[in-house]
Amino acid sequence: MAAEDIKKGLAGVVVDYTAVSKVNPDTNSLLYRGYPVQELAAKCSFEEVAYLLWNGELPNESQLAEFTARERAGRALDPVVKTVIDTLPTTAHPMDVCRTAASVLGARHELAEDSSPEANMKKAIDLWAAMPAVVAYDQRRRRGQDVVEPREDLDYSANFLWMTFGEEQVPEVVEAFNVSMILYAEHSFNASTFTARVVTSTLADLHSAVTAAIGALKGPLHGGANEAVMHTFDEIGIRSEESLDEAASRAKTWMENALAQKKKVMGFGHRVYKHGDSRVPTMKAALDKMIAHYGRPELLGLYNGLEQAMDEAKAIKPNLDYPAGPTYHLMGFDTQAFTPLFVASRITGWTAHIMEQVASNSLIRPLSEYNGPEERHVP
Ligand code: COA
Repeated sequence: MAAEDIKKGLAGVVVDYTAVSKVNPDTNSLLYRGYPVQELAAKCSFEEVAYLLWNGELPNESQLAEFTARERAGRALDPVVKTVIDTLPTTAHPMDVCRTAASVLGARHELAEDSSPEANMKKAIDLWAAMPAVVAYDQRRRRGQDVVEPREDLDYSANFLWMTFGEEQVPEVVEAFNVSMILYAEHSFNASTFTARVVTSTLADLHSAVTAAIGALKGPLHGGANEAVMHTFDEIGIRSEESLDEAASRAKTWMENALAQKKKVMGFGHRVYKHGDSRVPTMKAALDKMIAHYGRPELLGLYNGLEQAMDEAKAIKPNLDYPAGPTYHLMGFDTQAFTPLFVASRITGWTAHIMEQVASNSLIRPLSEYNGPEERHVP
């Protein structure tokens, strides 16, 4: 087989249809079930977007009321999951905690071996409702703090922040968090979603597919990039006394050195978008609001300096993880908790794809070209 016939990384390969979302790199657009993601971020709650991804349409008032009631009823941290988390060392990455929790929730689910459309929808909603408590509690236990019980009077985003920090957040912060959840929710056949579809294609259950997807998301070339962006900021050094321009100039120098050493800088570049990520302007606007809210211009300086230097040197644009990382930092999340926030959101997209895969399944099993030793025999 000719080398050019081998599609390494499956780059450019179309493997199936999907009606969940459309990524169009030429027009820098992203549609969830036909709706531009920017409009959804501006006008909808994350609950409405989750409903849309799973049902194909935005909910009417009574559908939304029923749906949010189901989400609110499933928010409490399962005591068995808490016990399991407590046995995990705090040296374990929070993504390992998420992955373990998804697996435990699957093993304990009343419909564990049922992959009917009704069972999968229930499992998807249950897992989506349960994950914020896992992420929130894991951050708290690392800080020596106890569980904060969920509040049924708060929406998904406000409650997530409440369970994490034990304090109600102002509407601007809740809104920025809601925007991040919507932008992270879905992105067609990315590595973790494809992983979920591969597992589903074997007729394994939904929680197995999500657990595998969490593993795929952990890597810094995928979801782990939002955490890695913050490590870059930390390496450059965040100096609260510094002006925007001073911070930008140090960041530019750091980027020039990193590129001279041929380093890959996380938070930049994308397999599909080559002229900029459609989600970045919306997330950057949310970051700008958080920088103003918390009064931290030096972070904008670092952000601008890296972006400009990368653009001048290689014309590579930021991806969603670039503005999301510092936004979560400003809100008070531990750096290692950033990718679990991505998990909490992407459960919606993953499970929408899992249900789509089940509805029109074909085992995913590509071929490979053998390049090992010729046939030989044991002496
Ligand atoms: N920093 C520095 N150089 C980068 C880069 C980055 N973040 N992203 C791409 N490049 C360069 C590569 O070094 C390569 O240069 P070369 O042709 O001189 O070797 C060129 O751009 C093409 O990159 P490649 O890795 O082959 O593109 P890809 O489509 O396979 O990769 C990513 C896409 C996302 C894996 C890649 O851009 C990356 O590693 N980014 C950082 C991780 C990240 O932010 N991931 C989150 C994605 S949402």
